[in-house]
Amino acid sequence: MKKVILGVTGGIAAYKAAELARIFVRNGAEVQVVMTPAAAEFVAPLTFQTLTERPAYIEMYTERSSEKIRHIDLLNDADVLVVAPASANTIGKMAGGLADNLLTTLYLAADCPVVVVPSMNVNMLNHPAVRENIEQLTRHGCLVMDPDQGELACGVYGSGRMPEPSDIYLFTRAALTPKDYKGLNVIVTAGPTREPLDPVRYLSNPSTGLMGYSLARALSERGAEVTLISGPTHLRPPAGVKTVEVNTAEEMYAAVLNNYDSCRLVFKAAAVSDFRPLEVQGEKVKKGSAANTLGLALNRDILLELGRQKGSRLLIGFAAETEEEIKNAHDKLLGKNLDLIIVNNLKEPGAGFAVSTNRVSIIDRSGEVEKLPLMEKEQLAHYILDRTAKLLP
Ligand code: CTP
Repeated sequence: MKKVILGVTGGIAAYKAAELARIFVRNGAEVQVVMTPAAAEFVAPLTFQTLTERPAYIEMYTERSSEKIRHIDLLNDADVLVVAPASANTIGKMAGGLADNLLTTLYLAADCPVVVVPSMNVNMLNHPAVRENIEQLTRHGCLVMDPDQGELACGVYGSGRMPEPSDIYLFTRAALTPKDYKGLNVIVTAGPTREPLDPVRYLSNPSTGLMGYSLARALSERGAEVTLISGPTHLRPPAGVKTVEVNTAEEMYAAVLNNYDSCRLVFKAAAVSDFRPLEVQGEKVKKGSAANTLGLALNRDILLELGRQKGSRLLIGFAAETEEEIKNAHDKLLGKNLDLIIVNNLKEPGAGFAVSTNRVSIIDRSGEVEKLPLMEKEQLAHYILDRTAKLLP
Protein backbone atom coordinates (compact mmCIF):
# COMPACT_ATOMS: atom_id res chain seq x y z
CA MET A 1 0.00 0.00 0.00
CA LYS A 2 1.99 2.96 -1.23
CA LYS A 3 -0.66 5.60 -1.81
CA VAL A 4 -3.87 5.88 0.21
CA ILE A 5 -6.64 8.41 -0.35
CA LEU A 6 -8.38 8.78 3.00
CA GLY A 7 -11.88 10.22 2.70
CA VAL A 8 -13.21 11.66 5.95
CA THR A 9 -16.89 12.53 6.28
CA GLY A 10 -18.84 14.49 8.88
CA GLY A 11 -19.43 12.48 12.03
CA ILE A 12 -18.12 12.40 15.56
CA ALA A 13 -15.84 9.48 14.61
CA ALA A 14 -13.94 11.84 12.27
CA TYR A 15 -11.46 12.43 15.09
CA LYS A 16 -10.50 8.74 14.93
CA ALA A 17 -9.57 9.19 11.26
CA ALA A 18 -6.55 11.19 12.45
CA GLU A 19 -5.20 8.07 14.17
CA LEU A 20 -5.99 6.04 11.05
CA ALA A 21 -3.99 8.49 8.91
CA ARG A 22 -1.10 8.11 11.36
CA ILE A 23 -1.19 4.32 11.14
CA PHE A 24 -1.13 4.38 7.33
CA VAL A 25 1.81 6.80 7.41
CA ARG A 26 3.65 4.73 10.01
CA ASN A 27 3.29 1.71 7.75
CA GLY A 28 4.97 3.49 4.89
CA ALA A 29 2.00 4.82 2.90
CA GLU A 30 1.70 8.25 1.34
CA VAL A 31 -1.67 9.48 2.64
CA GLN A 32 -3.80 12.10 0.91
CA VAL A 33 -6.74 13.19 3.03
CA VAL A 34 -9.92 14.44 1.38
CA MET A 35 -12.61 15.80 3.68
CA THR A 36 -16.24 16.63 3.13
CA PRO A 37 -17.17 20.15 4.26
CA ALA A 38 -19.07 18.59 7.20
CA ALA A 39 -15.96 16.65 8.31
CA ALA A 40 -14.06 19.92 8.56
CA GLU A 41 -16.61 21.04 11.17
CA PHE A 42 -15.48 18.13 13.39
CA VAL A 43 -11.70 18.06 12.81
CA ALA A 44 -9.47 20.81 11.49
CA PRO A 45 -7.79 20.04 8.14
CA LEU A 46 -4.56 21.19 9.78
CA THR A 47 -4.64 18.09 12.01
CA PHE A 48 -4.46 15.86 8.93
CA GLN A 49 -1.98 18.14 7.18
CA THR A 50 0.37 17.84 10.15
CA LEU A 51 0.07 14.05 10.32
CA THR A 52 0.36 13.38 6.59
CA GLU A 53 2.66 16.25 5.60
CA ARG A 54 0.34 17.27 2.77
CA PRO A 55 -2.71 19.51 2.66
CA ALA A 56 -6.11 17.95 3.38
CA TYR A 57 -8.39 18.94 0.50
CA ILE A 58 -12.03 19.85 0.77
CA GLU A 59 -12.77 21.90 -2.35
CA MET A 60 -12.78 20.69 -5.93
CA TYR A 61 -10.43 23.43 -7.10
CA THR A 62 -7.76 25.53 -5.47
CA GLU A 63 -6.60 28.81 -6.93
CA ARG A 64 -2.82 28.81 -6.84
CA SER A 65 -0.66 31.14 -8.93
CA SER A 66 -3.80 31.79 -11.00
CA GLU A 67 -3.65 28.15 -12.08
CA LYS A 68 -6.46 25.75 -11.26
CA ILE A 69 -5.29 22.47 -9.76
CA ARG A 70 -7.50 19.58 -10.66
CA HIS A 71 -7.86 17.56 -7.49
CA ILE A 72 -9.24 14.66 -9.45
CA ASP A 73 -5.59 14.07 -10.31
CA LEU A 74 -5.13 13.06 -6.67
CA LEU A 75 -6.29 9.61 -7.75
CA ASN A 76 -3.24 9.06 -9.94
CA ASP A 77 -1.40 5.92 -8.71
CA ALA A 78 -3.72 5.56 -5.71
CA ASP A 79 -3.75 1.99 -4.36
CA VAL A 80 -6.95 2.44 -2.41
CA LEU A 81 -9.64 4.95 -1.44
CA VAL A 82 -10.68 4.47 2.19
CA VAL A 83 -13.80 6.34 3.35
CA ALA A 84 -13.67 6.33 7.16
CA PRO A 85 -15.88 7.30 8.83
CA ALA A 86 -18.52 7.07 6.10
CA SER A 87 -21.66 8.95 7.14
CA ALA A 88 -25.18 7.99 6.04
CA ASN A 89 -25.24 11.13 3.90
CA THR A 90 -22.03 10.37 1.98
CA ILE A 91 -22.95 6.67 1.65
CA GLY A 92 -26.26 7.77 0.13
CA LYS A 93 -24.56 10.07 -2.34
CA MET A 94 -22.00 7.44 -3.31
CA ALA A 95 -24.73 4.84 -3.80
CA GLY A 96 -26.78 7.24 -5.91
CA GLY A 97 -23.86 8.43 -8.04
CA LEU A 98 -24.02 12.05 -6.89
CA ALA A 99 -20.86 14.11 -7.13
CA ASP A 100 -21.43 17.31 -5.19
CA ASN A 101 -18.09 17.57 -3.42
CA LEU A 102 -14.48 16.48 -3.92
CA LEU A 103 -14.83 13.16 -2.06
CA THR A 104 -17.98 11.98 -3.85
CA THR A 105 -16.45 13.07 -7.17
CA LEU A 106 -13.29 11.10 -6.45
CA TYR A 107 -15.42 8.05 -5.64
CA LEU A 108 -17.05 8.14 -9.07
CA ALA A 109 -13.70 8.65 -10.78
CA ALA A 110 -11.75 6.05 -8.75
CA ASP A 111 -10.53 2.92 -10.52
CA CYS A 112 -8.73 1.58 -7.42
CA PRO A 113 -10.34 -0.58 -4.68
CA VAL A 114 -12.64 1.38 -2.36
CA VAL A 115 -13.01 0.56 1.35
CA VAL A 116 -16.05 2.03 3.12
CA VAL A 117 -16.37 2.15 6.92
CA PRO A 118 -19.94 3.14 7.84
CA SER A 119 -20.19 4.88 11.18
CA MET A 120 -23.40 6.37 12.56
CA ASN A 121 -26.21 6.08 15.07
CA VAL A 122 -27.70 2.57 15.33
CA ASN A 123 -31.18 3.65 14.16
CA MET A 124 -29.71 5.36 11.12
CA LEU A 125 -27.66 2.27 10.36
CA ASN A 126 -30.77 0.09 10.60
CA HIS A 127 -32.90 2.35 8.41
CA PRO A 128 -33.89 0.53 5.23
CA ALA A 129 -32.67 3.46 3.11
CA VAL A 130 -29.17 3.26 4.61
CA ARG A 131 -29.09 -0.54 4.47
CA GLU A 132 -30.06 -0.47 0.80
CA ASN A 133 -27.40 2.14 0.08
CA ILE A 134 -24.74 0.03 1.80
CA GLU A 135 -25.84 -3.01 -0.21
CA GLN A 136 -25.67 -0.89 -3.34
CA LEU A 137 -22.06 0.06 -2.53
CA THR A 138 -21.22 -3.63 -2.12
CA ARG A 139 -22.71 -4.25 -5.57
CA HIS A 140 -20.51 -1.45 -6.91
CA GLY A 141 -17.55 -3.51 -5.67
CA CYS A 142 -16.81 -1.48 -2.53
CA LEU A 143 -15.36 -3.42 0.41
CA VAL A 144 -17.61 -2.48 3.31
CA MET A 145 -16.34 -3.01 6.85
CA ASP A 146 -18.94 -3.90 9.48
CA PRO A 147 -19.28 -1.27 12.22
CA ASP A 148 -18.46 -2.24 15.82
CA GLN A 149 -20.97 -2.61 18.61
CA GLY A 150 -20.65 -0.41 21.66
CA GLU A 151 -21.61 2.85 23.25
CA LEU A 152 -22.32 5.40 20.52
CA ALA A 153 -21.63 9.12 20.71
CA CYS A 154 -25.36 9.76 21.17
CA GLY A 155 -25.26 7.73 24.42
CA VAL A 156 -27.15 4.65 23.22
CA TYR A 157 -25.66 1.19 22.93
CA GLY A 158 -25.69 -0.60 19.59
CA SER A 159 -24.01 -1.18 16.25
CA GLY A 160 -22.60 1.79 14.37
CA ARG A 161 -19.34 2.60 16.12
CA MET A 162 -16.36 3.15 13.88
CA PRO A 163 -13.97 0.19 14.39
CA GLU A 164 -10.55 0.85 15.91
CA PRO A 165 -8.18 2.50 13.41
CA SER A 166 -5.72 -0.40 13.73
CA ASP A 167 -8.49 -2.80 12.67
CA ILE A 168 -9.43 -0.57 9.71
CA TYR A 169 -5.78 -0.61 8.66
CA LEU A 170 -5.72 -4.44 8.82
CA PHE A 171 -9.04 -4.70 6.94
CA THR A 172 -7.67 -2.45 4.20
CA ARG A 173 -4.42 -4.36 3.98
CA ALA A 174 -6.34 -7.66 3.77
CA ALA A 175 -8.64 -6.25 1.10
CA LEU A 176 -5.63 -5.40 -1.07
CA THR A 177 -3.74 -8.66 -0.54
CA PRO A 178 -3.82 -11.20 -3.39
CA LYS A 179 -5.68 -14.36 -2.33
CA ASP A 180 -3.03 -16.91 -3.29
CA TYR A 181 -4.01 -19.24 -0.38
CA LYS A 182 -7.74 -19.03 -1.11
CA GLY A 183 -9.72 -21.85 0.51
CA LEU A 184 -6.62 -23.72 1.68
CA ASN A 185 -6.97 -25.36 5.10
CA VAL A 186 -3.98 -24.45 7.25
CA ILE A 187 -2.98 -25.18 10.84
CA VAL A 188 -0.69 -22.73 12.63
CA THR A 189 0.61 -23.44 16.12
CA ALA A 190 1.90 -20.57 18.22
CA GLY A 191 3.17 -19.56 21.61
CA PRO A 192 4.69 -21.58 24.43
CA THR A 193 3.16 -24.52 26.23
CA ARG A 194 2.85 -24.64 30.01
CA GLU A 195 3.51 -27.83 31.92
CA PRO A 196 2.07 -27.61 35.43
CA LEU A 197 4.00 -28.63 38.55
CA ASP A 198 1.15 -27.79 40.90
CA PRO A 199 -1.87 -25.43 40.70
CA VAL A 200 0.34 -22.30 40.74
CA ARG A 201 3.64 -23.29 39.09
CA TYR A 202 4.62 -24.48 35.64
CA LEU A 203 7.53 -25.10 33.24
CA SER A 204 7.47 -22.95 30.13
CA ASN A 205 9.57 -20.71 27.87
CA PRO A 206 9.55 -17.02 26.87
CA SER A 207 7.73 -17.42 23.52
CA THR A 208 5.14 -14.65 23.00
CA GLY A 209 3.46 -16.28 20.01
CA LEU A 210 4.11 -13.30 17.71
CA MET A 211 5.59 -15.33 14.83
CA GLY A 212 2.67 -17.78 14.78
CA TYR A 213 0.03 -15.05 15.13
CA SER A 214 1.69 -13.05 12.32
CA LEU A 215 1.58 -16.13 10.10
CA ALA A 216 -2.07 -16.80 10.97
CA ARG A 217 -3.01 -13.20 10.13
CA ALA A 218 -1.02 -13.19 6.88
CA LEU A 219 -2.57 -16.52 5.82
CA SER A 220 -6.05 -15.25 6.57
CA GLU A 221 -5.37 -12.06 4.59
CA ARG A 222 -4.28 -14.27 1.70
CA GLY A 223 -7.53 -16.24 1.74
CA ALA A 224 -6.64 -19.36 3.78
CA GLU A 225 -8.98 -21.08 6.25
CA VAL A 226 -6.78 -20.92 9.32
CA THR A 227 -6.94 -22.90 12.55
CA LEU A 228 -4.62 -21.27 15.07
CA ILE A 229 -3.71 -23.60 17.94
CA SER A 230 -2.18 -21.40 20.56
CA GLY A 231 -0.51 -21.81 23.90
CA PRO A 232 -1.02 -18.99 26.45
CA THR A 233 -0.18 -15.55 24.98
CA HIS A 234 -1.29 -11.96 25.44
CA LEU A 235 -2.06 -11.54 21.74
CA ARG A 236 -5.48 -10.94 20.23
CA PRO A 237 -6.37 -13.68 17.72
CA PRO A 238 -6.54 -12.25 14.19
CA ALA A 239 -10.03 -11.61 12.79
CA GLY A 240 -11.48 -14.50 10.77
CA VAL A 241 -9.15 -17.10 12.27
CA LYS A 242 -10.50 -20.10 14.21
CA THR A 243 -8.50 -20.19 17.43
CA VAL A 244 -8.09 -23.15 19.77
CA GLU A 245 -6.48 -22.30 23.09
CA VAL A 246 -4.37 -24.94 24.81
CA ASN A 247 -2.01 -25.04 27.76
CA THR A 248 0.11 -28.18 27.69
CA ALA A 249 2.00 -29.97 24.92
CA GLU A 250 -0.42 -32.91 25.31
CA GLU A 251 -3.39 -30.58 24.72
CA MET A 252 -1.63 -29.08 21.70
CA TYR A 253 -0.96 -32.58 20.37
CA ALA A 254 -4.66 -33.49 20.66
CA ALA A 255 -5.85 -30.21 19.09
CA VAL A 256 -3.45 -30.47 16.16
CA LEU A 257 -4.34 -34.08 15.39
CA ASN A 258 -8.05 -33.25 15.69
CA ASN A 259 -7.69 -30.75 12.87
CA TYR A 260 -5.10 -32.63 10.79
CA ASP A 261 -7.39 -34.66 8.49
CA SER A 262 -8.79 -31.71 6.58
CA CYS A 263 -5.59 -29.67 6.53
CA ARG A 264 -3.14 -29.20 3.65
CA LEU A 265 -0.42 -27.17 5.27
CA VAL A 266 1.00 -26.84 8.78
CA PHE A 267 3.18 -24.10 10.26
CA LYS A 268 4.54 -25.44 13.53
CA ALA A 269 5.71 -22.16 15.06
CA ALA A 270 4.90 -23.06 18.67
CA ALA A 271 7.73 -23.40 21.17
CA VAL A 272 6.58 -26.71 22.61
CA SER A 273 8.01 -27.72 25.99
CA ASP A 274 10.02 -30.87 25.47
CA PHE A 275 9.56 -31.92 29.08
CA ARG A 276 6.79 -31.98 31.68
CA PRO A 277 7.04 -32.69 35.40
CA LEU A 278 6.76 -36.42 36.06
CA GLU A 279 4.11 -35.73 38.67
CA VAL A 280 1.62 -32.87 38.92
CA GLN A 281 0.71 -32.10 42.53
CA GLY A 282 -2.97 -31.49 43.21
CA GLU A 283 -2.23 -28.93 45.95
CA LYS A 284 0.26 -26.10 46.06
CA VAL A 285 3.63 -27.48 47.15
CA LYS A 286 4.86 -25.79 50.33
CA LYS A 287 8.47 -24.71 50.22
CA GLY A 288 9.27 -26.59 53.40
CA SER A 289 8.14 -29.88 51.89
CA ALA A 290 9.51 -29.44 48.34
CA ALA A 291 12.04 -31.96 47.07
CA ASN A 292 15.16 -30.35 45.58
CA THR A 293 15.12 -32.45 42.43
CA LEU A 294 12.45 -32.45 39.76
CA GLY A 295 11.53 -35.60 37.85
CA LEU A 296 10.80 -34.93 34.19
CA ALA A 297 8.99 -36.89 31.51
CA LEU A 298 9.55 -36.31 27.78
CA ASN A 299 6.60 -34.83 25.89
CA ARG A 300 5.51 -36.31 22.60
CA ASP A 301 6.99 -34.61 19.57
CA ILE A 302 3.92 -33.28 17.74
CA LEU A 303 5.72 -32.44 14.52
CA LEU A 304 7.43 -35.81 14.40
CA GLU A 305 4.00 -37.45 14.55
CA LEU A 306 2.64 -35.13 11.84
CA GLY A 307 5.62 -36.07 9.67
CA ARG A 308 4.80 -39.78 10.10
CA GLN A 309 1.19 -39.22 8.95
CA LYS A 310 2.13 -36.60 6.39
CA GLY A 311 0.43 -37.82 3.19
CA SER A 312 0.48 -35.03 0.60
CA ARG A 313 0.53 -32.22 3.17
CA LEU A 314 3.23 -29.58 3.43
CA LEU A 315 4.91 -29.31 6.84
CA ILE A 316 6.88 -26.25 7.87
CA GLY A 317 8.91 -26.42 11.08
CA PHE A 318 10.67 -23.80 13.15
CA ALA A 319 13.85 -24.11 15.15
CA ALA A 320 15.60 -21.79 17.56
CA GLU A 321 19.21 -22.81 18.05
CA THR A 322 22.25 -21.43 19.83
CA GLU A 323 24.97 -23.18 17.80
CA GLU A 324 25.42 -24.86 14.41
CA GLU A 325 21.93 -23.71 13.53
CA ILE A 326 21.97 -24.71 9.86
CA LYS A 327 23.12 -28.26 10.49
CA ASN A 328 20.87 -28.78 13.52
CA ALA A 329 17.84 -27.41 11.70
CA HIS A 330 18.44 -29.45 8.56
CA ASP A 331 18.73 -32.59 10.70
CA LYS A 332 15.36 -31.71 12.29
CA LEU A 333 13.83 -31.15 8.83
CA LEU A 334 14.91 -34.61 7.67
CA GLY A 335 14.14 -36.32 10.99
CA LYS A 336 10.60 -34.93 11.13
CA ASN A 337 9.88 -35.26 7.38
CA LEU A 338 9.39 -31.51 6.79
CA ASP A 339 9.37 -29.48 3.57
CA LEU A 340 10.99 -26.35 4.98
CA ILE A 341 12.42 -25.30 8.30
CA ILE A 342 12.82 -21.72 9.47
CA VAL A 343 15.73 -21.35 11.88
CA ASN A 344 17.15 -18.52 13.91
CA ASN A 345 20.17 -18.31 16.14
CA LEU A 346 19.08 -17.07 19.57
CA LYS A 347 22.50 -15.50 20.12
CA GLU A 348 22.11 -13.04 17.23
CA PRO A 349 20.76 -9.58 18.14
CA GLY A 350 17.08 -9.04 17.21
CA ALA A 351 16.49 -12.77 16.66
CA GLY A 352 14.43 -14.95 18.92
CA PHE A 353 11.91 -14.81 21.71
CA ALA A 354 9.88 -11.82 22.79
CA VAL A 355 11.10 -9.35 20.16
CA SER A 356 9.12 -8.01 17.20
CA THR A 357 11.91 -8.86 14.77
CA ASN A 358 13.72 -11.97 13.67
CA ARG A 359 16.72 -12.89 11.54
CA VAL A 360 16.18 -16.33 10.04
CA SER A 361 17.38 -18.77 7.44
CA ILE A 362 14.98 -20.87 5.40
CA ILE A 363 16.25 -24.37 4.64
CA ASP A 364 14.68 -26.80 2.19
CA ARG A 365 14.93 -30.59 1.92
CA SER A 366 17.97 -30.46 -0.36
CA GLY A 367 19.79 -28.43 2.27
CA GLU A 368 19.71 -25.19 0.29
CA VAL A 369 19.85 -22.24 2.67
CA GLU A 370 18.30 -18.80 2.14
CA LYS A 371 19.65 -16.35 4.71
CA LEU A 372 17.31 -13.41 5.31
CA PRO A 373 18.11 -10.02 6.81
CA LEU A 374 16.61 -8.75 10.08
CA MET A 375 12.87 -8.26 9.53
CA GLU A 376 9.72 -7.46 11.47
CA LYS A 377 7.91 -10.75 12.17
CA GLU A 378 4.80 -9.44 10.33
CA GLN A 379 6.86 -8.83 7.21
CA LEU A 380 8.70 -12.12 7.67
CA ALA A 381 5.35 -13.97 7.80
CA HIS A 382 4.49 -12.73 4.29
CA TYR A 383 7.98 -13.56 3.07
CA ILE A 384 7.64 -17.14 4.38
CA LEU A 385 4.23 -17.41 2.68
CA ASP A 386 5.72 -16.21 -0.63
CA ARG A 387 8.23 -19.03 -0.26
CA THR A 388 5.74 -21.78 0.71
CA ALA A 389 3.32 -20.66 -2.06
CA LYS A 390 5.94 -21.94 -4.52
CA LEU A 391 5.59 -25.43 -3.00
CA LEU A 392 1.80 -25.52 -3.36
CA PRO A 393 0.53 -27.70 -6.20
N1 CTP B 1 8.03 -29.54 18.12
C1 CTP B 1 6.86 -30.23 18.32
N2 CTP B 1 6.68 -30.97 19.47
C2 CTP B 1 7.64 -31.04 20.40
C3 CTP B 1 8.86 -30.32 20.22
C4 CTP B 1 9.01 -29.57 19.06
O1 CTP B 1 5.98 -30.17 17.46
N3 CTP B 1 7.42 -31.76 21.50
C5 CTP B 1 8.20 -28.75 16.88
C6 CTP B 1 8.31 -27.26 17.09
O2 CTP B 1 7.02 -26.66 17.05
C7 CTP B 1 9.18 -26.82 15.95
C8 CTP B 1 10.08 -28.02 15.68
O3 CTP B 1 9.41 -29.12 16.28
O4 CTP B 1 8.48 -26.57 14.75
C9 CTP B 1 11.46 -27.90 16.24
O5 CTP B 1 11.38 -27.61 17.61
P1 CTP B 1 12.67 -27.62 18.54
O6 CTP B 1 12.24 -27.42 19.96
O7 CTP B 1 13.68 -26.70 17.96
O8 CTP B 1 13.18 -29.08 18.28
P2 CTP B 1 13.31 -30.34 19.14
O9 CTP B 1 13.04 -31.49 18.20
O10 CTP B 1 12.52 -30.27 20.40
O11 CTP B 1 14.87 -30.37 19.44
P3 CTP B 1 15.75 -29.72 20.63
O12 CTP B 1 14.80 -29.04 21.59
O13 CTP B 1 16.44 -30.90 21.22
O14 CTP B 1 16.68 -28.78 19.93
